[in-house]
Order: sequence, then structure tokens, then C-alpha cells
Amino acid sequence: MGEYQTILTEVHERVGLIRLNRPRAFNALNAQLMQELTDALSAFDADPAIGAIVITGNEKVFAAGADIKEMAAATAADMLTSGYIDLFDRIRTVSKPIIAAVSGWALGGGFELAMTCDMIVASETAQFGQPEINLGIIPGAGGTQRLTRTVGKYLAMEIVLNDRRLKAEEALRFGLVNRVVPVERYLDEALALAQQLAARAPLALRIAKEAVNRALETSLTEGLAYERRVFYLLFATDDQKEGMAAFLEKRQPQWQGK
Ligand code: HXC
Repeated sequence: MGEYQTILTEVHERVGLIRLNRPRAFNALNAQLMQELTDALSAFDADPAIGAIVITGNEKVFAAGADIKEMAAATAADMLTSGYIDLFDRIRTVSKPIIAAVSGWALGGGFELAMTCDMIVASETAQFGQPEINLGIIPGAGGTQRLTRTVGKYLAMEIVLNDRRLKAEEALRFGLVNRVVPVERYLDEALALAQQLAARAPLALRIAKEAVNRALETSLTEGLAYERRVFYLLFATDDQKEGMAAFLEKRQPQWQGK
């Protein structure tokens, strides 16, 4: 894993942890941070010793959005050619589950980054919002799309058009986060959830993630056909034989990822 200036990486057993680390800029997601984040995600994704990934900030802020200082003077052509937002698409291609552990602010691109992850564990102090309208722009990394698919049109309109902020408990109620825990525990909770995922059959886990994501992209008929094909495919794996044998022999399965 490379040398990073804007993130910190750690390995906790089979979980790769990435801490966003620009505390003085409230973890604003500048181009360097997004590049380093996606590089670290790719490295963890390629590492067979890692089964799941957690992205976090600090207790006060997950990320306060794209870096306004970096964007302020940009032209449309600069934004188009920089490839900055394309880095969010790279996160989508990661095959292992990614959990966002969010405490404090997750605003703008920070909220979008959390929504790009597969699960969100929030501390009681987490606050989510899309304040871009205050800057004369709109969300650009999925905030109008993923948010609307999750909370529906009417609340999404209020969040995106009028900077309505959601506290952690509201986010839980609207299905935006998986669980809310006291601030002292949010990272441990996310790591424990990630360890559980990392202990599961790797190929089934990967295909399960793909299949759930497919549900957001396609019709029910196509989605069901896709699910059936990848369901059959898993019967070509050693892990399916092992999982069912272990059940019948009343023992724990030993997954090989084959
Ligand atoms: C650059 C930022 C920043 C950001 C905070 N800072 N957010 N720098 N980009 N997005 C910097 C401040 O300039 C300041 O640095 C320091 O962090 C602390 O911020 P304060 O405002 O002094 O702190 P506070 O009063 O506690 O308010 C915290 C805050 C506020 C509520 C998080 O900073 C805020 O509203 N930030 C902007 C949030 C936002 O609009 N996000 C959307 C960005 S656009 P100095 O050096 O002055 O002390 C976006 C588009 C995404 O995300 C599109 C695709 C990815």
C-alpha cells in the first residue's frame, strides 16, 4: 500500500480501514484525497487477506463535502476534464463490501461518499445533508439519484432543494443508515460488522453485493433473471459444496474463496 498524505490506512484482522484525514479542512474531499481513497480501496480490493472495508472520518466530521477552495475558480471544462467525479464511480467497482462509519457532518460530497458505500453505521451525532444549493450548484456525485432512490421524491426534494439536514435518528427512520450507536462505539460497531462480513464465503459475498446493486439498475424481470443466473453460478464453487456439507455435518464451514 502506497504512502498517503490525506488518508490513513490500517488493517484490523480481515478488515481494511481507511480514515479520511484532513481534519483542518473538515475532511473536505479534494482531488488528492479522492485519488488516494480510490487507490487504497483498489489495493484492499485486490488483497486476498482483506474481506471487507470501512471508511471513516473522525468523531466531529466524516467529510464536509468536495473542497470548495479547490472548486471555487474552476470552469465547467475544468470540472469535466479533471476526472474528479469519475473517482466516485471507481468506488462502485469495488467488489468487497464497504461500510461508511459516520460521525458528525456528512455533507455534500461527504454524504454522497457515504451513500456510495454498501452500509452506513452512524454515531448519534451524525448529520447528513446536501447543502450545495447554498453554493449555487447541485450534488454531482449521486446526491440527487441515490438519495431519491432511498428516501423517495418528496424528502429528497427538501434535502436537495432546501438544505434540509437529517440527524442520525431521522436518517435511520428513512432507511439511510443501518444503525445508530453512541459516538464512543460507532467505529467499533462498523469494524465488528465488517469482520462478520469478512468471515463469510468470499465469492457468495461478492455476488450478493452485485445482485443487490443490480436491483437498483434494472426491471424486476431482468433482475430476477440476473439473480437466477448468478445463483446457479455459485453451484460451480467449492464454497457451495463446503457450506452445505458443513451444515449437514453440523460443523463450521471453511471457506476457500474458490
Ligand atoms: C473546503 C472546508 C469545507 C469544504 C469546511 N471547510 N468545509 N473547506 N471545502 N467543503 C473548512 C473551512 O473553510 C474552515 O477552514 C474549516 O474547514 C472549518 O470550517 P468552519 O466553517 O469554520 O467550521 P464550522 O463553523 O464548525 O462549520 C462546519 C461546517 C461548515 C458546517 C461543516 O464548514 C460547512 O458548512 N462547510 C461546507 C459544507 C458544504 O457546503 N459542503 C458541500 C460542498 S460542495 P479555515 O481554513 O477557514 O479555518 C460539494 C459538491 C459535491 O460537496 C459534488 C461532487 C463530489
